[in-house]
Amino acid sequence: MDYVKVASAGQIADGALVPVEAGGEKLLLTRVRGTYYATQRKCPHLGGNLCKGKLDGEAVVCPLHKAKFDLRTGGVERDPKLLFIGMKAKSGLRIYPVKEMGDDIYVGI
Ligand code: FES
Repeated sequence: MDYVKVASAGQIADGALVPVEAGGEKLLLTRVRGTYYATQRKCPHLGGNLCKGKLDGEAVVCPLHKAKFDLRTGGVERDPKLLFIGMKAKSGLRIYPVKEMGDDIYVGI
């Protein structure tokens, strides 16, 4: 696994959902109470951009159908829903390890 610099620590405010790229992958980088998380950026349901979603504790909520994914494990916390129609989130999120070295943030890819 290679670690790729994706940002400087000063660029990532707590609670921000930041689009970054590493190794050709489009990722979401965020920080929750000082801990960094990186996941795939596209929702595994129908491709919603998770950078336009919302944080809910250590989870991200997709802006399209409100599926909720745990940032620590990638697991599905809540399946998507459209009006009253329940759907299935196909899979969890791919997650990536994050390292902070000095003032730089690296993601393992
Ligand atoms: S695209 Fe994300 S919940 Fe449907």
